[in-house]
Amino acid sequence: MKVDVLLGLQWGDEGKGKIVDVLTPKYDIVGRFQGGPNAGHTLEFNGIKHVLRTIPSGIFHGNSINIIGNGVVIDPVVLMSEIEALIKMGVDVRSKLLFSKRAHLILPTHRLLDAASEAAKGKEKIGSTLKGIGPTYMDKTGRNGLRLGDIMLPTFKAKYDALVEKHKQILSHHQFEYNLNDMEPEWFNAVDQLKTYTQIESEHYINEAFNNKKSILAEGAQGSLLDIDFGSYPFVTSSNTICAGACTGLGIAPNKIGKVYGIFKAYCTRVGSGPFPTELFDETGDQIRNNGREFGSVTGRPRRTGWLDLPALKYAVMVNGVTELLMMKADVLTGLDTIKVCTAYKYQGETINYLPYDYSPELLSPIYTEMKGWDKDLTGMNDINQIPESLSNYIDFIEKETGVPITIVSVGPDRTQTLIRKKELV
Ligand code: GDP
Ligand code: IMO
Ligand code: MG
Repeated sequence: MKVDVLLGLQWGDEGKGKIVDVLTPKYDIVGRFQGGPNAGHTLEFNGIKHVLRTIPSGIFHGNSINIIGNGVVIDPVVLMSEIEALIKMGVDVRSKLLFSKRAHLILPTHRLLDAASEAAKGKEKIGSTLKGIGPTYMDKTGRNGLRLGDIMLPTFKAKYDALVEKHKQILSHHQFEYNLNDMEPEWFNAVDQLKTYTQIESEHYINEAFNNKKSILAEGAQGSLLDIDFGSYPFVTSSNTICAGACTGLGIAPNKIGKVYGIFKAYCTRVGSGPFPTELFDETGDQIRNNGREFGSVTGRPRRTGWLDLPALKYAVMVNGVTELLMMKADVLTGLDTIKVCTAYKYQGETINYLPYDYSPELLSPIYTEMKGWDKDLTGMNDINQIPESLSNYIDFIEKETGVPITIVSVGPDRTQTLIRKKELV
């Protein structure tokens, strides 16, 4: 069995947490491959709503092993508070959660640098979650970073001090006030607690598991349009969110990848700055935001909302090699008379059907196809044959345009509100 990958195809928050939780019973191992506590992956089951930040969304299922891969960046404080919450819920975290020694650490000063960098950008700010993600990946690629494995070394404190000294020098160029003494004690306390958890060389662990025929699911964070290379640069995150990130972030060779599950919402959302061709600024946009409870799970910020963007979706399908599509939040569109879907753009006077290099709003406007909406409440449905005809037409249309089968249609946040459309493929 090959390693399957599950990732978001839009600007994040597509519902990855929910679907990983739904699919986990099929897998022995779930591994997160990039990102860090900028992610907020929500799961709902048995009346519980839980948001995971760094920990893979397979953690709630009986026997699954969950791995935080080398491509992830870890804030010990956030991670320990996640672990504590899970322990309170009765999850046996210690035996189910393994960490790659190679994962990089987010230091308190990385968070400060994130804030200073955003403040300096002013109106041009990225809209970062301010969790220290960008500065930590910069230190990783700049070969200055601290890794989880370092916390076990006698030289750890000296390495920490040397890096913090570099950070202080950078911060001194910013008009930015901070008090590191307020941040460090809880960080070192969390590091001490982390020392008691199992660290592994996850690339060996995963490849051995693969050779022993274990089933493995790689869980992405953020979305393809936030990818550092293929997203709407510079309004992106600092890691490769696409399928290739699963190879580098877990140590899986490309020829071991099997299915690529691509998740998208039946519409689009974006949180933070950056171009969003189909963004709605009207009542329909508000309606989608309110129906879909589109407020950030990490920052609480209202998410920007808009219609489904097919050229952008096709781009994401292409760069990821998506083998099946999973459509989320179809229930949120219930009650709209008309649903629009962008099929092409007007770009500098021409009609194009691909996502161009620069898709700033002043250069590009969407061209829509209109489709009939539906009134029927979907949230109690448990069989795909119950969905209204106009939703079925909408799904068929997207499938035809992308050329990829839509195998799951999600109709509510709970685990159970999941309709399997093509049983033979899922
Ligand atoms: P992730 O980051 O991709 O895991 O997504 P988030 O958890 O940040 O955001 C998705 C939100 O939509 C969460 O609040 C989920 O509980 C919720 N959700 C997931 N699937 C559905 C669905 O099919 N319908 C509705 N109404 N909500 C959903
Ligand atoms: P999940 O995994 C949605 C966005 C931020 C900002 C940009 C850069 O829950 O889908 P960063 O903190 O990485 O420097 O922010 O990326 N962003 C997300 N948006 N969902 C996420 O994660 C996100 N992680 C980062 O809003 O625009
Ligand atoms: Mg999220």
